[in-house]
Amino acid sequence: MQNPYLPYPVKIDDIVVETEDKNLKTFTFVFLNPADEERFAYRSGQFAELSVTGKGEIPIGIASSPSEKGFVKFTVNKVGLVSSYLHNMQKGDIMGIRGPLGNSYPWDVLKGKNVVIIGGGFAFTTLRSSIVYMLANRQDFGKITVIYGARTPGMLLYRDELMAWEKRDDIDMHITVDGTNDPNWKYNVGFVPTITEKKAPQADDDTYAIICGPPIMIKFTQPVLDKAGYAHDHIIMSLENRMKCGIGMCGRCNVGKDFVCKDGPVFTLAQLNTMPKEY
Ligand SMILES: Cc1cc2nc3c(=O)[nH]c(=O)nc-3n(C[C@H](O)[C@H](O)[C@H](O)COP(=O)(O)OP(=O)(O)OC[C@H]3O[C@@H](n4cnc5c(N)ncnc54)[C@H](O)[C@@H]3O)c2cc1C
Ligand code: FES
Repeated sequence: MQNPYLPYPVKIDDIVVETEDKNLKTFTFVFLNPADEERFAYRSGQFAELSVTGKGEIPIGIASSPSEKGFVKFTVNKVGLVSSYLHNMQKGDIMGIRGPLGNSYPWDVLKGKNVVIIGGGFAFTTLRSSIVYMLANRQDFGKITVIYGARTPGMLLYRDELMAWEKRDDIDMHITVDGTNDPNWKYNVGFVPTITEKKAPQADDDTYAIICGPPIMIKFTQPVLDKAGYAHDHIIMSLENRMKCGIGMCGRCNVGKDFVCKDGPVFTLAQLNTMPKEY
């Protein structure tokens, strides 16, 4: 049996600066041992520990989709020790990935259903994975609606892909920014909750919302979904609690009896409602 604390060795194959403040970079990794790619079979919504020798490990959502082969991608915000070190690493450098970890979005439940993706800021990583996955398996899903916002156009992640999805007629895209001076901006201006109120489909039994973003966005979007009639077991969220082991062993991430790393990070709002409010 593979030691769950041992990372797979990977090489940094590409680095893309995503945002105008240069604080978000997307790292593409290839496995040094091709057989490890199969062992790292993942689902959208899972995360991994990015492991930098001598610095530590950080839990990061997997931004690539299981339908994309030959690499895995992660988008990392530069905030502290490990993420800053990672931001200084170069193409060709070797490091480790431990995972995949956590549950995932509930793809068995979502199959055949309409899915509304609501994202804000840099919490769009596993949502990108989900969109790419759903588009690669388009026949398995009903209507796909995406509402994604950032402070400014330059703070949107994956801009080229967003523009390509905009042009498709099998996905309903609503990109928005809080504000912009760009006279060529042709998408929405307004906060995510406001755009959700205008663009999200009314709830029904076959429609699920996945929502990821800063707490303030979630706080103001949830009442909008309530008003549109979404049942709390049809609203899906992903938590980002502090973590260490990532495999339910150290107790660092627990909320009540649940380990966010193992039982989550994905929970329905109905589940979260039954948990202590410490997440
Ligand atoms: C399941 C999961 C998925 C995540 N996905 C992503 C992702 O896709 N992209 C991304 O950039 N980040 C993601 N994060 C957050 C990321 O793990 C932290 O930003 C990272 O661990 C910071 O490590 P550091 O060593 O750079 O910072 P540290 O030196 O440890 O801390 C620097 C600052 O970051 C804060 N911080 C540390 N950990 C967290 C955390 N878990 N949540 C909020 N603030 C924290 C500290 O309070 C401190 O202010 C995710 C976290 C979890 C649990
Ligand atoms: S991070 Fe160790 S139990 Fe969750």
